[in-house]
Amino acid sequence: MIVPGNHDSRNAGYLFFEDIFKARSTFGHFGEVTVVGLDSSQPDLEEGHIGRENYGWIEKAFSGSGFKVFALHHHLIPIPRTGRGNNVLVDAGDVLELLDRSGVNLVLCGHWHIPWVWRLNDMLVVSAGTVCSSKIRGKTSQCYNLIELDAPELESKRWHLKVYRVFSNGEKERVVDSII
Ligand SMILES: [Fe+2]
Repeated sequence: MIVPGNHDSRNAGYLFFEDIFKARSTFGHFGEVTVVGLDSSQPDLEEGHIGRENYGWIEKAFSGSGFKVFALHHHLIPIPRTGRGNNVLVDAGDVLELLDRSGVNLVLCGHWHIPWVWRLNDMLVVSAGTVCSSKIRGKTSQCYNLIELDAPELESKRWHLKVYRVFSNGEKERVVDSII
């Protein structure tokens, strides 16, 4: 699943994104895992938004059981080392409430290229660094997130989630190891 970022939508780039990757927002069920990916970009604006017009189908997509993942480019919660930059969705509060109410387990985002993890209620919000861009911030180096998810065993309904940061020098750092 691929979602566009603000740079993909700049200069009407979203038209090429649609040609190459098709839908800018989509969802899928992969066994008991539901993944919803949203285009949070707005052409030629840095700030992100989801928009009320999308809340209904997001809620519907997450109406079942199982493990629920929400993926978007922009941030839902501010992260450190972003200075005074506006780094959350303009409708972050409403989206957070929607995801929390829908029982979302994991949110994936990445706009600022800063790897970070927040836990909010029962939801993990995991920001990715950048794999290949030279636009890193502070002392962070290039990295990506590797996510491992083990399905519940027998009667249990709890999933085992592990998230690793993998760095360009090959180092692998475990940043999440949770039963959720
Ligand atoms: Fe971005």
